[in-house]
Amino acid sequence: MNAPAVITASRRDDFPGLAGGWHYLDTAATAQKPQAVIDAMTRAMGADYATVHRGVYARSANMTIAFEAARGRVAAFMGAADAKEVVFVRGATEGINLVASSWGGANIKAGDRIMLSQLEHHSNIVPWQMLAERVGAHIDVCPLNHDGRIDLDWLEVNLTAAHKLVALAHVSNVLGSVLGAKRAAKAAHNVGAKLLLDGCQAAPRMRIDMAELGCDFYVWSGHKLYGPPASVFCGHAVIFWTPCPLIRAAAR
Ligand SMILES: Cc1ncc(COP(=O)(O)O)c(C=O)c1O
Repeated sequence: MNAPAVITASRRDDFPGLAGGWHYLDTAATAQKPQAVIDAMTRAMGADYATVHRGVYARSANMTIAFEAARGRVAAFMGAADAKEVVFVRGATEGINLVASSWGGANIKAGDRIMLSQLEHHSNIVPWQMLAERVGAHIDVCPLNHDGRIDLDWLEVNLTAAHKLVALAHVSNVLGSVLGAKRAAKAAHNVGAKLLLDGCQAAPRMRIDMAELGCDFYVWSGHKLYGPPASVFCGHAVIFWTPCPLIRAAAR
């Protein structure tokens, strides 16, 4: 496990948002922040604050070093081969939109197909609908099997060479069902498609390893993992990033 799914009594005191015996049941939407993260954010926004990657004075250089160190820690956390593959954005919705508008815009053409599933979050539907409408592509929807998991038997039979992208939730935010990610990656790659995994509900609750999963894009949300920002794993080493001092806070 990367992070506890349930905050134990000994950890409760670390979270000011749980003071007074408050029971918070919305961690899947966004996590309460421990005091260490709040303190680090305060330092990053206060005493340590300076421009990232754009100044030559000492505090700016230190901020840049800390910012890149955070990228390295995120890369290690998710088993990315190279920290340059990690892209910081403001949330998973923005991450998926970034993949759809950059990689998708360049690689998905009229007549191509995109495979989603019945249990996707809106964030992993709407960016693909917008792209499909813009370029004239088609969307297919993989059904679920009897126990609420994405039906990989159906997926394997119905993927074709016209599919350029398969975009699936690693763990469902509605059912909690876990995808057979390695099998999904194999099925996608067998027809020449890329696999994007929406890891929003997986990254805070289970070990994630990009090499092991074999996906091409992995998107998750820092604010669901006790921090303020989010990151995107991009298997193509494309570097996009938004200078954001809060990243430093999240990594402390
Ligand atoms: C499975 C899943 N995907 C995407 C999102 C959107 O994440 P964000 O708020 O970082 O845009 C959520 C948020 O609840 C989610 O649970």
